[in-house]
Amino acid sequence: MSKTIDSTLQEDRTFNPAIEFTKNARINAEKLAELRQAAAQDHEGFWGNLAKSELSWHKPFSKLCDSSNAPHYTWFEDGEINVSYNCIDRHLETHGNKTAIIFEGEPGDVKKLTYQQLYTETCQFANALKAQGIQKGDRVVIYMPMIPEAVIAMQACARIGAIHSVVFGGFSAESLKDRIEDAGAKMLITADGGNRGGKIVELKKATDKALAEGCPSINSVIVYQRTAHPITMQPGRDIWWHDAIEGQATDCTPAWVSSEHPLFLLYTSGSTGKPKGVQHSSGGYLLNAAVTMQWVFDIHESDIFFCTADVGWITGHTYVTYGPLANAATIVMYEGGPVFPDAGRFWKLCQDHQITIFYTAPTAIRALMKTGDDFPNSYDLSSIRLLGTVGEPINPEAWMWYHRTIGKEKCPIVDTWWQTETGAHMLSPIPGAMATKPGSCTLALPGIDAEIVDTSGDPITAPNKGGSLVIKKPWPSMIRTIWGDDARYQKTYWGEFDNRYYVAGDNARRDKDGYFWIMGRTDDVLNVSGHRLGTMEIESALVANPKVAEAAVVGRPDELKGEAIFAYVVLKGQRPEGGIDETLTLELRNWVAEQIGPIAKPDDMRFADNLPKTRSGKIMRRLLRTIAKGEEITSDTSTLENESILDQLQGKA
Ligand code: PRX
Repeated sequence: MSKTIDSTLQEDRTFNPAIEFTKNARINAEKLAELRQAAAQDHEGFWGNLAKSELSWHKPFSKLCDSSNAPHYTWFEDGEINVSYNCIDRHLETHGNKTAIIFEGEPGDVKKLTYQQLYTETCQFANALKAQGIQKGDRVVIYMPMIPEAVIAMQACARIGAIHSVVFGGFSAESLKDRIEDAGAKMLITADGGNRGGKIVELKKATDKALAEGCPSINSVIVYQRTAHPITMQPGRDIWWHDAIEGQATDCTPAWVSSEHPLFLLYTSGSTGKPKGVQHSSGGYLLNAAVTMQWVFDIHESDIFFCTADVGWITGHTYVTYGPLANAATIVMYEGGPVFPDAGRFWKLCQDHQITIFYTAPTAIRALMKTGDDFPNSYDLSSIRLLGTVGEPINPEAWMWYHRTIGKEKCPIVDTWWQTETGAHMLSPIPGAMATKPGSCTLALPGIDAEIVDTSGDPITAPNKGGSLVIKKPWPSMIRTIWGDDARYQKTYWGEFDNRYYVAGDNARRDKDGYFWIMGRTDDVLNVSGHRLGTMEIESALVANPKVAEAAVVGRPDELKGEAIFAYVVLKGQRPEGGIDETLTLELRNWVAEQIGPIAKPDDMRFADNLPKTRSGKIMRRLLRTIAKGEEITSDTSTLENESILDQLQGKA
């Protein structure tokens, strides 16, 4: 059996950064070479020097990386720091009147907060949290729309050393409940609702449902009034945000915590079991968040930075809340949907707020590309100087459209590869220092030691041979553990190659220039519109329906979403004729939306009497993937226990 994977994608175009861009870039080719050399000479010292120069410490650290409990690495552990102090207080003297947040609601309402105002609001809310009994180390779940108060709530938690766990507002009551219970959260911060796609997202209703079904650890719920539509407040448990901050002091001394103190948990899907609470640190996390803003986004004093991600995802943590604010940058936050009221919304935001750096996901780019050039062409996009993408591989066609139609062929594109677990960018162009290629996330950043290895864990040196993407040396913003499950952490990320490397779970290859090309996940995790979903989670949701006996879920390539969800379902009752039943399909799709969230709804569903299994009872997912793609089955199926089932699964019977 071959130990590597063959690649079929050929892309030879290369784009050098415009001279104009390079001239003003924070990092040019020489500076990049210096950084790489410094990191190569002394990996830990390189990060240690940056931690000293880029972050403000209450007590300086003497330790760099501690490997004594590997693979649980620590960084700067004896240093004391506060993340909120680093994002707000230290800028007040020089940037107090600078705009920190430009917020635009979906209905068009605009609100701006200076750093001074952000300080005041964060302190008041931090005091409100304390008044509600929240202490250092307590977990607080944040389930909010994309409004400044989401950032304020995160900053307030960081300020008092509480550990936040933001749950994406698109997740259902059931998913919210699971996350609250796993984290043992004491408090939930939510809103009466948020605006999305012209509708109200009923966050408080979902909250009530989640709490009615469990979550005994929750003592109080703070509710921000965003939409003012009717909701119910439970006396003794629920308190309005405006009442909670009433009379609270506008200063709040930051809690100085160890650099290793958990800043947040963020739940992400895995291939098995429940979503895992990825635990991040304070100092190490903030360091990579801060420096990647400088290296990758080339952040300058005058930039207006717009990352379209929701704070419920890691991208919204690192590149809405922490990275930009650590650099005293101005961010744009937008509450609503990308095509509301039409597909020109992002471009209108860019024009109206003079956005200079725009960062979004390939799925959004593909969807907007499909609506044609008239939308972007009817807005003035001349303020944009740099573009970015994240979340999934970008196909060269979408890259070229982004480059031409949005970037007007003058803006570099940074295709940033990273993960919830890595905390910050890992593989990415440095825009003023190197050439880009459509579809490649180019090279590892300085201080990040990435490699592609074969199934034995040996480095693959031949160009264009695919293998498993691994990181060889620890880095400051790496995941510390899975909340409450060290064993799962060790097994998932380190188990495959005997603790030698951090295993990303992605396949990748390098071309003749050493550029990385991500080829997709190695495990049963789907990447739907740039969001990770475990097939197992969707299967469990389906099986939880009283009509369903068994289910198997696989991905199939989708032009817009990257991957679409294909579900094979075995019913407890009769199989519908021809394996298709639209009413039941609709019912089960809505069921999954209720169990997990609308993003997890299967796109296709086929009913069969059984699933293709080996004699030992293992489902042959490879076959299901082939069928989902509409391809002919050419591999050997004689090991199948029930070969005749294939006709049903293929929709032929
Ligand atoms: O498969 C890779 C893909 O998204 C996964 C990480 O998902 P998540 O933790 O939800 O974080 C997404 C935002 C950082 C990766 O394992 N991925 C992320 N960025 C890229 C990518 N695939 C290709 N190119 C990228 N730039």
